[in-house]
Amino acid sequence: MTAKLIDGKAVSQKIKIQVQQRVEKLAQQEIIPGLAVVLVGENSASLTYVKNKKKTCEALGMRSDLHQFPDTLTEQELLSTIDELNNDSKIHGILVQLPLPKQIDEFKVISAISPEKDVDGFHPISVGNMMIGKDAFLPCTPHGIMELLAHYDIDPAGKHAVVIGRSNIVGKPIGQLLLQKDATVTYCHSKTKDLAEFTKQADILIAAIGRAKFIDHTFIKPGAVVIDVGMNRDENGKLCGDVDFEDVQETASFVTPVPGGVGPMTIAMLMDNTLQSAEKGSV
Ligand code: GUN
Repeated sequence: MTAKLIDGKAVSQKIKIQVQQRVEKLAQQEIIPGLAVVLVGENSASLTYVKNKKKTCEALGMRSDLHQFPDTLTEQELLSTIDELNNDSKIHGILVQLPLPKQIDEFKVISAISPEKDVDGFHPISVGNMMIGKDAFLPCTPHGIMELLAHYDIDPAGKHAVVIGRSNIVGKPIGQLLLQKDATVTYCHSKTKDLAEFTKQADILIAAIGRAKFIDHTFIKPGAVVIDVGMNRDENGKLCGDVDFEDVQETASFVTPVPGGVGPMTIAMLMDNTLQSAEKGSV
């Protein structure tokens, strides 16, 4: 058996086309969805991510403003920027790229974003609403994973989903979303003993560890669905995931590639959230 490819590039393309069509419809009412992206510091990975977000926005007919600051920016200055963006009627979504420099309290900054413009889904109100299954902007990477599973008719109900990673951005929320779809969820993390003992029980394995090609076939139950959230460089500097893609081919039933799996879905869901915010007339 060779694993089927979960093609995030193709699925994200479909979503982006739908977004573009809805953007055109809104344009008839003279509303252009606007996303403000705030970047503090010179982190090169962050710069690449935000440029991609801006480029995609523009390709879909949405407005995108990049607010770039040096890493000496104070917390107060950042909070003032957020206040301005909260009150800017042309802006429907605000994204503060993480991580932030150490003098700035991430929680304070995220909490300052108006929940109506919290297209990242990181505000405590968004997180709370997501947890209880109420209407909220869902965090983009976990939401993108759920869309991928749905697209390939992979129903989490009754399945054992094992999540490796417990970040607020990916690990914790993907576990919650899978639980809401009636999966039985196990969280593993850096302090988990005998990781493979857990992962080998997974019908759906979510790898969000941050270690290049760490998950090989010895971690995987035959027939498992393997979702790779990793974004690493291998020994040759080539982009790769947390999963050894080639090595799991004969064991997994489905697997996401890196690049071309979860990554493009994250951006597509961000576009969808920003559009939804504009459609709600959130200003
Ligand atoms: N840093 C890494 N991933 C993300 C993300 O999805 N949103 C933001 N704001 N920062 C990130």
